[in-house]
Parts: sequence; C-alpha cells; structure tokens
Amino acid sequence: MADKLRVGVIGCGSMTTNHTYGYLNSTRYEVVGISDLSPQAMKDFDDKFTEYSDYKAEHFTDFREMLVKAMPDIVSVGVWHKGHSPMTIAAAAAPGVKAVLCEKPMADSLGAAREMLIKVATNDVKLVIGHQRRFLPAYTLARQMIEDGEVGDVQLITSIAGDGLPNYATHQTDMFRYLLGDIECTWVTGQVERQTDHWERATRIEDKALAVFGFENGAQAMIVSDLTPVRWQGARIYGSEGMIEITVDDLKIMNANSNGWAVHEPDGEFLKFGEDRFEWFEAGAAQARELADWVEGRSDYHRNNGENGYKALEMIHGVYESARLHEQVFMPVKTMVNPLEVMIDDGHLKVRYPGQHDIRAKQLRGENLGDDTQNV
Ligand SMILES: NC(=O)c1ccc[n+]([C@@H]2O[C@H](COP(=O)([O-])OP(=O)(O)OC[C@H]3O[C@@H](n4cnc5c(N)ncnc54)[C@H](O)[C@@H]3O)[C@@H](O)[C@H]2O)c1
Repeated sequence: MADKLRVGVIGCGSMTTNHTYGYLNSTRYEVVGISDLSPQAMKDFDDKFTEYSDYKAEHFTDFREMLVKAMPDIVSVGVWHKGHSPMTIAAAAAPGVKAVLCEKPMADSLGAAREMLIKVATNDVKLVIGHQRRFLPAYTLARQMIEDGEVGDVQLITSIAGDGLPNYATHQTDMFRYLLGDIECTWVTGQVERQTDHWERATRIEDKALAVFGFENGAQAMIVSDLTPVRWQGARIYGSEGMIEITVDDLKIMNANSNGWAVHEPDGEFLKFGEDRFEWFEAGAAQARELADWVEGRSDYHRNNGENGYKALEMIHGVYESARLHEQVFMPVKTMVNPLEVMIDDGHLKVRYPGQHDIRAKQLRGENLGDDTQNV
C-alpha cells in the first residue's frame, strides 16, 4: 500500500476534530503533528483518537515549528477566521506541504482570501476550504435531481441562517452554487442591521440580514439570517415543475411523479444512515478522501477547492457591499476589505446598544478574550 499522507493540524478545536476523524476514517492519512497555544487543548485532542493507530501526533505550541519539524504533506487550519489567511500562507510556504485544508469562512476579507489563492498557486500547493456539506448524500442527490430536470427550471432556493453571515451562511452560498451545478452568481442585493456590538469568533458581525442572489441561469436564492430564532442547514428549492427540500440528513421531493412528498434518506460511503449524523462523519471522511485523490493525482479536482471557497465568501461580502452602497452589486465584488467593517468604522452602522459581545467567547481557553490568531 502507498505511504499515507502526513497530516499536521493547526488549532486543536471542534472543527479540526472533525477533519481528523475524516483523515483517519478515510484510512489514507496519518496524523503526525498538532499545534495549539493551549497544551491542554492538545491533550484533550489526543484523547479523542486513542483507538486509531494512524494517530501519532507530536505536540507543538508554535505552529511554524510544527510545519518544519513534523514535515506534514497536508495541513489543517482550524483556528478562528482571522488566522485562516496567514496560517494557510505560512503552511503553503513550508517545505514539503502539498495541500492545506482550511476551515470556512475562507478569510475575514476578500483581499486576505485572494492572497491565499495567489500564494498556494505560486507554491503549487492545493487548497481546500471546509464546506464539507457538499459531501452530504442528500445534497448530492438534490444536485443530481436538479440536473436531471426533476423539478424543471429552478426559480428560487430559500435558506434560513443565524449567528452572522460569514459563520453560518457561507455554507449556504456555497450550497446554492453546488445545487445549481457550480454556475456563477452574477448579482447580490442585501440589507444588514447592527444595533449591538455583535462579534462571532473575534470577527464583527451584523445582528440581522436579508440577502437575495441572482445566478447566470436566471435562478434566484434568498437567505434570511437572524430575523427569527429559526435556523437550519439545508434548503427549499422551488422549480417550474416541482419542489425539493433538503436537510443535512435527508431529502424530500414533490413533482408530477411523486404522489405527494417522496422522502429519500441516501446512504453514504463512510457511514450508514442511522448510526450517527451524516453531517460530521460522512462529510469529513469523503472530503478527506477526495483531497487524497487530488493530491495523489488520481483526480484533478476537489469540489471544495479554493476558487469555490472564494466564491462562497464573495457572495457574503457582496451582501455587505450592497448594504454599504445601497445598491445591487454585480460580480465580481471589487472591494477587498470587509465592507461590514468599513460601515462600522465610518459610522454608517452605529451601535445603538453599546457593549461588545462575542457569541463564541465561551470557547476560548486562555485569558485572551480577543483573538489568539491576531499576531501570527
Ligand atoms: N465547517 C463547519 O461546519 C464548521 C463548524 C464549526 C466551525 N467552523 C470553523 O472552524 C474554525 C474554528 O472554529 P472552532 O469552533 O473549531 O474553534 P475552537 O475554538 O474550537 O478551536 C480553535 C483552536 O485554535 C487554537 N488557536 C488559537 N490561536 C492559535 C495559534 N496561534 N496557534 C495554534 N492554535 C491556535 C485555540 O487555542 C483553539 O484550541 C472557525 O473559523 C469556524 O468558522 C466550521
């Protein structure tokens, strides 16, 4: 059997736990190094993988030391958003690194995301952004049904988000393109409200948002975010000849042949339905397997490649730019800083009820309630 790909992990938190299950369950990798500012986080991380013989991680508190000494082929970047760009760039510059799997949102600005694309291309390193839901069997079945014309022409896709657009809704902008066969979003219009000093993983976010997207085939999509307490990953898809509703676990379709709603619970390759949620295990392992195929030259494509990650982020920043300019924004978005930050800094979006609150502050282990990834 071919040598396994060596993995180094930056940031031992919830999402790199899922990456690591994905690497180990796909059986194509060995995990050789992990890095975190918190030694306890690394110990807790080890405890999750004791039953896997391919988990043999050395610990590093300095991720750059890990990049040099553990000599990974693949690097997982799973710190908070602001660290994604500098850490991906550092990993792409490290000797021997072949690919980076970086969490979403790709970066905290389009400029930072573009730098990632430039640096990985310059160093001939592959980049994957962790929109793992593209691997959910229900999502892939919906994409196939749409391609097969089972609901006619898609007219509208709706989704319900929360906890800020960059955190939750990049999965949904990515999903819209995936469902529509990765066609291009051509325009965006949006509205945001920010009356409180609202942060998410050390990034400023809005309190509420509403967004509409137009695609090159005439389809439209809508995200309602934080306007009600309801949120879920998935979509309602309205076509000229039927409807599909997807969740992370299943799909239902109504069309001329379905005799009411027909429910499908498609099985995955790595996890059979019912044992656990598809969301983390099936999607993570399939994402890792497609990455191994890409790196080893068995395929020339990864569905979560950096370009697709960029487009998902661009759609979100298009919403912010539309709110800033009070106009419909046509792609590509040209503003490379985060338009929400500009609106806040220039007084366009005034906080009415002062007092910073980060909805993820409880996840930080150390004394730093700001961003541990700022000074990387
Ligand atoms: N794809 C998904 O569905 C999904 C789900 C959850 C989170 N995420 C994304 O994953 C990213 C991480 O979120 P999380 O909830 O897993 O974070 P987390 O808080 O669980 O873990 C982050 C870890 O990074 C460590 N860290 C911070 N600075 C570091 C540094 N300089 N060097 C090394 N380690 C450092 C922290 O100590 C912490 O252990 C976020 O960007 C988030 O948006 C994606």
